[in-house]
Amino acid sequence: MCKKILVIDDDEDFLVTIKKFLTEYNPDWSVDIANSSYKGENLIRTNNYDTILLDIKMEGEDGVSLLEKFKIEIPTIPIIMVSGQSSITIAIDCIQKGALDYIEKPVDKNRLVISLTKALSLRQVLQDSKDYKDIISKELEIVGVSDSIKRIKELISAIAPTDIPVLITGESGTGKEIVAKAIHQLSKRKDNKMLALNCSAIADGLIDSELFGHEKGAFTGALSNKIGFIESANNSTIFLDEIGDMKLETQAKLLRAIENKEIFRVGSTKEIKVDVRFITATNKNLKDLIRQGKFREDLYHRIKGFEINLPPLRERKEDIPLLTKHFADLYARKNNIENLTIDESVYKYLQTLDWNGNVRELKHFVENLISLSSKDKVGIVDLLKMLEFNNKSNYKINNQSINFYKEMIKNIEKEFYLSVYTRNDMNIKKTAEELGIDRSNLYRKLKEYQII
Ligand SMILES: Nc1ncnc2c1ncn2[C@@H]1O[C@H](COP(=O)(O)OP(=O)(O)OP(=O)(O)O)[C@@H](O)[C@H]1O
Ligand SMILES: [Mg+2]
Repeated sequence: MCKKILVIDDDEDFLVTIKKFLTEYNPDWSVDIANSSYKGENLIRTNNYDTILLDIKMEGEDGVSLLEKFKIEIPTIPIIMVSGQSSITIAIDCIQKGALDYIEKPVDKNRLVISLTKALSLRQVLQDSKDYKDIISKELEIVGVSDSIKRIKELISAIAPTDIPVLITGESGTGKEIVAKAIHQLSKRKDNKMLALNCSAIADGLIDSELFGHEKGAFTGALSNKIGFIESANNSTIFLDEIGDMKLETQAKLLRAIENKEIFRVGSTKEIKVDVRFITATNKNLKDLIRQGKFREDLYHRIKGFEINLPPLRERKEDIPLLTKHFADLYARKNNIENLTIDESVYKYLQTLDWNGNVRELKHFVENLISLSSKDKVGIVDLLKMLEFNNKSNYKINNQSINFYKEMIKNIEKEFYLSVYTRNDMNIKKTAEELGIDRSNLYRKLKEYQII
């Protein structure tokens, strides 16, 4: 089967030579080249590579910081570093940061082939591994038992196979992106990668060129032709996040792209036909933005072929235990923790909180809780430590949680008195001495907790 290799290096001669050599060496290897880290990142967004050859010294972002980024974003793609410098310190640094190998220039071709073969077989092992598949599919699973989540799942199955544009609304962290991914995965476009663009993360001046691409010379800095996101997403799905932050001028162009299924690259009058499914998301109220003249009403109706609104987690608290278990299982698998158990009271307590950062906040909380807990058991004491550790106001204590908290502390105190009292053969005098408290106080406590 064809294997896809990406070579990122700012030395054009090197790129051409390597591509020619590798494709001749093995016709099943398809080699893409990128002469800058920026172009490399763009290609990674739109292609599924099996391995990457990455130069260390490049203009702009250097290879080592790119390596660090890739290890987080695409951790299962093996990366081989290539460098003109012979430095054992850099080599060790790269390996420690997760590179599979480090090859010096001029590249010895046998050495390169051996290294690539190793990388490709590692990639295959990773892809075939049940754990990897399980984790990937588990990460995409939409979890919840609430009526709203059940209804959303039904909606997703119903609209996924169509090409209807979908607008996903909801507060930050409610699961808009995971819903977009689910729609794509269940659609006929699923074999092509879904492209995601966060409209608010791109400077105003660059958004048009990112979305629609540009022609060489269209503006200062446009040194070569560039394919934009929409064109790259041809035959696939594009997910435009934070659509409410898109400027009006770009909105007009986007409307035309959706209506006419065609785009114009910046600086070009030649239309390009595209077949793209649009999914958009926002945590803003688009109707308010329309009233304020910041969002086009016609675009709103166009993107809202169908709207999926994700309610905040505090309005579907019945989902909290299942989500907690889901995130705990995922974390345990990734970190090789076997037989993780979480005390029932932890689930109950988490369910009392409001989670204004929604599912994302709960996920991070659960992951931190497990990592701070002792071994494979998470109990109420770990939870208390965690709440102490964090600024409690982050977790929006409400009346319900305060009562629960008090109840928990009582239970812990009761356990404590009971164990010391039993250890001292139910002798009040000895127990009071060990605890360094007054006998009458101890007596009161034991009565209060119905120990005596
Ligand atoms: N119902 C769910 N089941 C399982 N995981 C979920 C669910 N909802 C959200 N998540 C997880 O919670 C995290 C936050 O979700 P996501 O990124 O989809 O939220 P978002 O609405 O796009 O947030 P933002 O507005 O901040 O971009 C992700 O890791 C996602 O996988
Ligand atoms: Mg999001």
